[in-house]
Amino acid sequence: MRALLKSRYANPTATDCWRSLRRKELVEVYRDRALALPPLNTTLARRLLEQTRVYVALKGIRGRASVDLAALETLLVRFSELVVEQPRIREIDINPLLASAEQLLALDARVVLFNSEVVDESLPRPAIRPYPVQYVSRWTMKDGKEVVIRPIRPEDELLMVQFHQTLSDSTVYLRYFHMEKVDSRVAHDRLIRKCFIDYAREMALVADRIDPGTGRHELLGVGRLTRQRVPEDAELAVLVTDRCQGAGLGTELVGRLIDLARSEKPRRIVARILSENRTMLKLARHFQFEMVGEEGDPNSLVAILELDGQVSSQDPTQMRK
Ligand SMILES: CC(C)(COP(=O)(O)OP(=O)(O)OC[C@H]1O[C@@H](n2cnc3c(N)ncnc32)[C@H](O)[C@@H]1OP(=O)(O)O)[C@@H](O)C(=O)NCCC(=O)NCCS
Repeated sequence: MRALLKSRYANPTATDCWRSLRRKELVEVYRDRALALPPLNTTLARRLLEQTRVYVALKGIRGRASVDLAALETLLVRFSELVVEQPRIREIDINPLLASAEQLLALDARVVLFNSEVVDESLPRPAIRPYPVQYVSRWTMKDGKEVVIRPIRPEDELLMVQFHQTLSDSTVYLRYFHMEKVDSRVAHDRLIRKCFIDYAREMALVADRIDPGTGRHELLGVGRLTRQRVPEDAELAVLVTDRCQGAGLGTELVGRLIDLARSEKPRRIVARILSENRTMLKLARHFQFEMVGEEGDPNSLVAILELDGQVSSQDPTQMRK
């Protein structure tokens, strides 16, 4: 999107618009451009804005108020969603876009569609897989807590920090096979890789709850499927916060990840489990994983689930033990 992003006026007059058009020319003369592939999320939208020279002015200079950056990010995210959802759009241009502390106003826009002779199959596809909304849904835990189970997002980093702070040493040990300090688990470099994932290669589902006491979001569990070097294998790992263990969440996350794997490429799901981890072993057997010894490690087992030809894990006859 080429866009002009600056004005301090809430209700632009003809003079404001003229000024903004002059700035539009300046934007073009200085080639103040930033590129990003759709779809964007708010983190990517912020990074895109940060790459422009005008960004310093957008944040407010010489006593002028900052433009509404959150609204601007939302606009970029929605604009990118429009481009992804409407593949017949060949070019789209909002220029200029007037941004102020109070409002965003598109003064001009242009859309070019693909010719009707171009068949749907040959329309371009986004290089980045969009946020998989089809995997978002509500679920109620055995103790009555309502959660939304959804794919992880880059914006979840802070919630993940808080989630890790709730985990006991034994839960951490069972998941990582060694004691890993909270500081290293929540290091930004690590968490950004865990939250900012390529949904085509990896999937992490989180259980997101709004704490009725504080009104704030909290994560109660995370389940992850990661493609392995052997392209047909995906490794499964799951982690539920201590105070919510035993309420069915681990089973639900694993069941959803198995279903999801069936509609994607992997043929096999593997999970490495400590031999002493009775809960996870029970859960894996519940989904008919086969247990084999881990080579060179007598303390752990590898649980393997072949996906070919199996019925859905959500089939009640399969769920019953
Ligand atoms: C393993 C883990 C993910 C399971 O999640 P959970 O939400 O506690 O599991 P569920 O409530 O779905 O229970 C799964 C089964 O284990 C049983 N179970 C749960 N907690 C148990 C416990 N403390 N002792 C024995 N059995 C237990 C449940 O009764 C259930 O069996 P059921 O279906 O017959 O009722 C969770 O306990 C956890 O995060 N553990 C630490 C990290 C870990 O081990 N991760 C796995 C590494 S791959």
